Amino acid sequence: MPNIDIKKCRITHYPAQVLAGCARPVEKIDDNIRQLVEKMTDIMLENKGVGLAAPQAGVALRLFIISLEQTKETVKVYINPTVTTTGELDSAEEGCLSVPGVVTKVRRYKKCKVTATDLDGNEFTEEAEGLYARVLQHEYDHIEGLTIVNRMGQTARIVHRRRLKALRNGNG
Ligand code: NI
Repeated sequence: MPNIDIKKCRITHYPAQVLAGCARPVEKIDDNIRQLVEKMTDIMLENKGVGLAAPQAGVALRLFIISLEQTKETVKVYINPTVTTTGELDSAEEGCLSVPGVVTKVRRYKKCKVTATDLDGNEFTEEAEGLYARVLQHEYDHIEGLTIVNRMGQTARIVHRRRLKALRNGNG
């Protein structure tokens, strides 16, 4: 696994290529990965987010962090996660730090189960519902190369067309 230059990690915006590809598994949890998680935590909290996936910091790895409380102490790390959805769908408004200026309704499953590895290398499984389930599905999308832009309906695409065009033109 090539070394990640942490100094070069910064928030990536749609339509960056790193946000559109399927991310690679983390092969080894070493100091470099721990530094990446620290940097991602800074980026997430600075931008007042509740979650951030590695591609959003410019790194195509299967790793994301979540803190619904938006504090450093409560940041949870998900390495090589799998998310299994169950139950009914629910529609709610979502934003994304990588698609600034866009809030759109996204349909997600009300419940899901996540299995991942933490920074100590221990595997864990959790059942989630409500906002937590939504954020897990949103972050998991990122490591599969999907953003809220992919999840938008035709109407939302029209509503947000100017903003999306500005982002594509680098005027985000
Ligand atoms: Ni996002």
